[in-house]
Amino acid sequence: MLRASFAIIGCCALLAANGCGSSEPTGSGGGPPFAGPDAMKGSMMGPPSGNAVFDKNCTGCHQVMTGAAPGGPPRKGPNLAKVGAEHKADWIADYVKNPAKVKADSKMPEFASKLSADDIKSVSEFLAEKK
Ligand code: HEC
Repeated sequence: MLRASFAIIGCCALLAANGCGSSEPTGSGGGPPFAGPDAMKGSMMGPPSGNAVFDKNCTGCHQVMTGAAPGGPPRKGPNLAKVGAEHKADWIADYVKNPAKVKADSKMPEFASKLSADDIKSVSEFLAEKK
């Protein structure tokens, strides 16, 4: 009997300690609860995308999360959450540079004159991971 109540007290103390750690607003107390912002990528709690080029230039027409866009009107362009399953980074880069060259009746603007080659490469590789 005595032994059992000790176990219960031990248990409560543990729970209290855990509760305390996770309610730290910064999460800096008692070791990191997350591995860092990278670990958040793709999680429901994470940012809408992990790529600054995409966030700045493409989210007006595209989303990269499955399901409905979080607020706002429906996007003009297709959801790109699975674009990497169909297309490689090279194809995506060509499309972004000059959509009309890939799809004659494309309604998407070209980005060859707006983005640097590095930006196009980075956003294309980012999208190619979406599968
Ligand atoms: C003004 C709206 C608009 C913007 C801004 C825009 N897109 Fe698009 N995008 C479209 C539309 C519409 C389509 C559908 C096909 C078409 O008309 O070209 C499309 C298609 C695509 C496709 C082809 C998808 C497929 O599977 O065929 C890719 C890849 C793409 N967009 C990437 C991007 C990226 C990357 C950016 C930002 C650099 C961007 N788009 C910005 C409107 C837009």
